[in-house]
Amino acid sequence: DWKMEDLMEEEIKVINKTVASDEHVICALSGGVDSTVAATLVHKAIGDRLHCIFVDNGLLRYKEQERVMDTFERDLHLPVTCVDASERFLSELKGVVDPETKRKIIGREFINIFDQFAQELEKKHGKKPAFLVQGTLYPDVIESCPPPGTDRTHSHTIKSHHNVGGLPKDMKLKLIEPLKLLFKDEVRELGRILNVPVGFLKRHPFPGPGLAVRVLGDVTQGNALEVLRQVDEIFIQSIRDAGLYDSIWQAFAVFLPVRSVGVQGDKRTHSHVVALRAVTSQDGMTADWFNFEHKFLDDVSRKICNSVQGVNRVVLDITSKPPSTIEWE
Ligand code: XMP
Repeated sequence: DWKMEDLMEEEIKVINKTVASDEHVICALSGGVDSTVAATLVHKAIGDRLHCIFVDNGLLRYKEQERVMDTFERDLHLPVTCVDASERFLSELKGVVDPETKRKIIGREFINIFDQFAQELEKKHGKKPAFLVQGTLYPDVIESCPPPGTDRTHSHTIKSHHNVGGLPKDMKLKLIEPLKLLFKDEVRELGRILNVPVGFLKRHPFPGPGLAVRVLGDVTQGNALEVLRQVDEIFIQSIRDAGLYDSIWQAFAVFLPVRSVGVQGDKRTHSHVVALRAVTSQDGMTADWFNFEHKFLDDVSRKICNSVQGVNRVVLDITSKPPSTIEWE
């Protein structure tokens, strides 16, 4: 696509003009499409004066750290520092059940780690990083979509968004937002040109607070995170095997803080209940629950109960948004 190639070259020029040759830029990679494409573009422009950080907050999915670090390093050659902060996050979250409090704690810990990263870079380069890359998209920038044909550059209002904001105020970083005039499908197109693997570009969205909003209540209860990771992986892998992954906006499992009675082998059990959720959506603002076939659900449910220890019941979420949200917390 020539138009997108021109746009990419244009962006690279702008970034090179904006960032002086002795200035450094930082970027927090979430493992999602937007931050990855933004960082890859900036890296193409300024090389290793870009410094990325990926934080393992202990709330990632099965093998997620390895999988995304592989893409960053092996496929994209991005300069990334991976910080394993699982213990720190989980100890701060111990005993916390309120969803908003959980989000706040995660946001605060993330800022602390990011702050520390910036200070270490300052020590190393004798200079504070001057810029922050963010993967803000056009729909994040405007309050509502303007009618087709409207000049996108005319809107300047920034919607309060859970990915934006919340960085230390005294850091005084200037923002680089190379995707801020693009829609999601255009970001994917740009990503393809930048050689981001197609499978990565098609990943379902994943919330910043990660599995914390999918373990209802205390995330540190028992082996909830471990159980959830296994169930989620089986569900997603089954969806991939059935060729349904790209037809679904988001699919995941939820760990419920209740136990139910079951019978497995010749024993009665008193074990965990997990919920499965899959939705279709255009933009995440509204969503419809996805209608799987009976056989698919039957296979998944059996597979989960047979292979994940401590789970004896699988339920399916058949609520759309509204009235529900996509996530359970
Ligand atoms: P809800 O659950 O509000 O989610 O219907 C809409 C979309 O946003 C994602 N989501 C979040 N993303 N931080 C994020 O970065 C959050 O705190 C958060 N909460 C929800 C959700 O996964 C869905 O795609």
